[in-house]
Amino acid sequence: MKPRAVLAAATVAALSMAAASQTQAYDATRARQDWVLNCMGCHTADGSGIPGKVPALRNSLGHFVSLPEGRQFVMRVPGAANSALNDAELANVLNWLLATMNEQSRPASFKPYTAEEIAAHRRPALTDVARTRMKLVKELQENGVNAVPEHY
Ligand code: HEC
Repeated sequence: MKPRAVLAAATVAALSMAAASQTQAYDATRARQDWVLNCMGCHTADGSGIPGKVPALRNSLGHFVSLPEGRQFVMRVPGAANSALNDAELANVLNWLLATMNEQSRPASFKPYTAEEIAAHRRPALTDVARTRMKLVKELQENGVNAVPEHY
C-alpha cells in the first residue's frame, strides 16, 4: 500500500474503533426487544410519548443524566424501576435509549449505566415523580437548558 492508503486505512480503523467503543455499552438487539415488550406500549415506538399522559424519552433523558440526581431519576421512575427487566437489562435499555434517542442531548462525559449502578439505586422507586421531575427541570433551566418541558 502507498503511504496515503495506509494512513487512510489507519484512519478508518481508528474511527470504527471509536464507534465500537461507544456502542459497546449496549446490545441493540436485546435493548430493542426489551423496549418493545416493557416500555414502548406507553412511551410509543419512537419514544415521543403521549401528550398529557406519558413523557417523551427522546432528547430529555440526555439532559436528565447530566445531573447526578437526574441520572438516578431515570432509573427510579416506576415504569423503569418496577419493570420486569433485571438490572443488566435495564442498564442495557437505558444505554440504548441514550445512544439512539438522546445522542444530541447526552453530555460528552456520559458514562454508560452498569448493572451494579442500577442494582444500587433503582429501588425504592420514586413515589413523588412529579415533584422530583420539576426540581430537576428547574435545575436544568438554571444551567441554561430549556429543552425539557415542565409539562408533557
Ligand atoms: C404503564 C405505562 C408505562 C410503561 C410500561 C413505562 N413507562 Fe416510563 N413513564 C410512564 C409515565 C406515565 C411516566 C411519567 C412519570 C410517572 O407518572 O411515573 C413515565 C416516565 C418515565 C421516565 C421519566 C421521563 C420524564 O421526562 O419524566 C423515564 C426515564 C421512563 N419512564 C422510562 C421507562 C422505561 C425505560 C420503561 C421500560 C422499562 C418504561 N418507562 C415503561 C409510563 C410508563
